[in-house]
Formats: sequence, C-alpha cells, structure tokens
Amino acid sequence: MTEPKFAPSILSADFARLADAVIAVERAGADWIHVDVMDGHFVPNLTFGPKMVADLRKATRLPLDVHLMIERPEDWVDRYADAGATYLTIHVEASGDVPGTLAAIRARGVRPGLTLNPETPVEAVLPHLASFDLALVMSVHPGFGGQKFIEGALGKVKAIREALDARHLAAELEVDGGIKPENAARVAAAGASVLVAGSAIFEDPDGPVAALRKFKQAVRG
Ligand code: DX5
Ligand code: ZN
Repeated sequence: MTEPKFAPSILSADFARLADAVIAVERAGADWIHVDVMDGHFVPNLTFGPKMVADLRKATRLPLDVHLMIERPEDWVDRYADAGATYLTIHVEASGDVPGTLAAIRARGVRPGLTLNPETPVEAVLPHLASFDLALVMSVHPGFGGQKFIEGALGKVKAIREALDARHLAAELEVDGGIKPENAARVAAAGASVLVAGSAIFEDPDGPVAALRKFKQAVRG
C-alpha cells in the first residue's frame, strides 16, 4: 500500500488564527490543505468565500484542496480559480451540468474534483471518471466536522479504486469525514490516496503536529 497523503481540514481550526494553523500543519508534514466552502443552502452551515482562499494562497505553499459544498458551483469556478485553488471539487448532487463544470474548472488550469454525499450511489460519479483529477468520497453528511465515520463509504472507495485502476487512470481518491488515526489504515487499504482530517488534527489535545504524527504512524503500521 502506498502511503496516503494527508489533507488537514481547516474547518476545525481557529478561524481567527487560520494562517498559524496552516503553517503548523505544513511544518508537521501535511501534504495538502483542505478548505471546506459552505453556502448555507447545499449544507446547513456557512464558511469561506473566495477571498479566504486567496489569502490562504499567500500563507502556504501547499496545494489548496477546495471542497465546494455549494449550490450551482458552476457560477463560482472563475472566482475560486482566480483565488488560487489547486483542486476544485464539486458535488455531483449540486450541479445541473457536471461534465460542463468539470471542463470549465480544467479550462481555468485548476484540477477538477467530483464528490458525492453518503446517500448518493457510487454509480453517480463513475460516468465522469475520465473528466476529473480527484474523486472525493464523503464519509459523513457534509456540513460539520466531528461526525462519526460512515462505514458504507469504504465500499464506494473500493469501487472507485477498481474503476480507476481498470482504466489506468491516475486520479486521486480522497476520503472526507470521521477519519482518525484508529481508522486511517483501513481507509487507505480500501484504496484512498488522500485522507482528510479536521477534528482529529485541530482538536487533538496534543496539538496538530502530534496529531499528524499519530496519523503517519497509524498508516505505516
Ligand atoms: C464536512 C467537511 C469535512 C470536515 C471533516 O462537511 O467536508 O472536510 O472538515 O471533519 P472531521 O475530520 O472532523 O470529520
Ligand atoms: Zn471537506
């Protein structure tokens, strides 16, 4: 098993000290920064707009993995591309034109991602495999950090891993929600190449640097 990348989700960091949080996990060996954008409609919570992504872009050299939990993501591609997103991931449930939106993201020089909610069957993303650089399997209901991992996500991870490998596609396969040092190795073994973790990193009483160390030890066995 290749060691997965880690993408700390700043949703669980102190929003008044985001640059410090990002710098701390970058120093600790994080691979990407996961940025949860919520609009209060697609999910019942509100977070960041494009300016936050632009400001984070100045605070870290790490790729910015922007997860759009918003309705009509097609209306926002240019703004988040201008802001400096590295990956821009849309929900398959949220867009009326998934292929068109993925293509628009790629046309802006940003890596397109596609994600699905826990209740959405994996078949919803499989037709788009060749059009994205990242598949994101939600293992909690999007909107909040600190929820319990939904085991049914593992079957979706395995199905997408098999489909990507069968077609020799190199897209990243990311899993988001409820990931802890205790279940990280299982999620990676199912085929994930990127693990998102929010509360398990930023709410660990030992701090984010120690938390990331626990994750790395867990996947190394
Ligand atoms: C949930 C977000 C997640 C969240 C994960 O809607 O997409 O990225 O930050 O938080 P944890 O790791 O606490 O489940
Ligand atoms: Zn997320």
